[in-house]
Amino acid sequence: TPTLQELEKQAAATAALRWVRDGMLVGLGTGSTAAPFIRALGEAMRTGQLRVQATATSEASAALAREVGIPLVPPQRGMRFDLTVDGADELDPQLRLIKGGGGALLREKVLATASNYLLIVADSSKAVSQLGKFPLPLEVVPFALPWVMDAVAELGANPVVRVSKTDTTQYVLSDQGNLLVDCHFNQINDPQQLATQLKTIPGLVEHGLFLGLANAALVACGEQVQVLQA
Ligand code: A5P
Repeated sequence: TPTLQELEKQAAATAALRWVRDGMLVGLGTGSTAAPFIRALGEAMRTGQLRVQATATSEASAALAREVGIPLVPPQRGMRFDLTVDGADELDPQLRLIKGGGGALLREKVLATASNYLLIVADSSKAVSQLGKFPLPLEVVPFALPWVMDAVAELGANPVVRVSKTDTTQYVLSDQGNLLVDCHFNQINDPQQLATQLKTIPGLVEHGLFLGLANAALVACGEQVQVLQA
């Protein structure tokens, strides 16, 4: 039987289907909340309720989209998404986000930025008053790792290179072949200032702070789905 958290993820994902209109170009997020959205969208395509095209934020989500029959289009100049639906690891009352727990933060940020509307789907555990309990993920070019670790430690984080859960001697690699570094800040008092500082570190390709990108969030609390607007 599914856990309450799994039921909440499903509820938020299913509710997101109501934001999709026929003919839209949709960005597909990554993770255990985005996945049931992709499945529900595939089902709506199969039954003829909706017809959309999509681009995925990860190889995993692209594979799932293919499996459920959502046509995928590659990135192109001038491309804008009508809607992107994605999960989050944390969201605060201003809809500032921490993302990247699933390692897909780079493509997620590319699509979020190329989207006219970013809709976040989340279970109730993701809504926080202040960001930072969840370790902030970074995508880092392997060569630059030692200096990036030094630089983020300077900023007050305890950085940990992400390793495989099943084999802790193996680093996790992103879809781009980069490393992931999880930065334990415990609390992030000024997300904008931190984002600006992180952007100056060479070899740090992207960070998981998504500021001013989310337009709305669907947060499931039990069977109730709350709509939060930015
Ligand atoms: C993937 O890189 C992440 O940004 C996910 O969106 C985030 O980790 C939330 O994942 P879940 O929906 O699986 O909790």
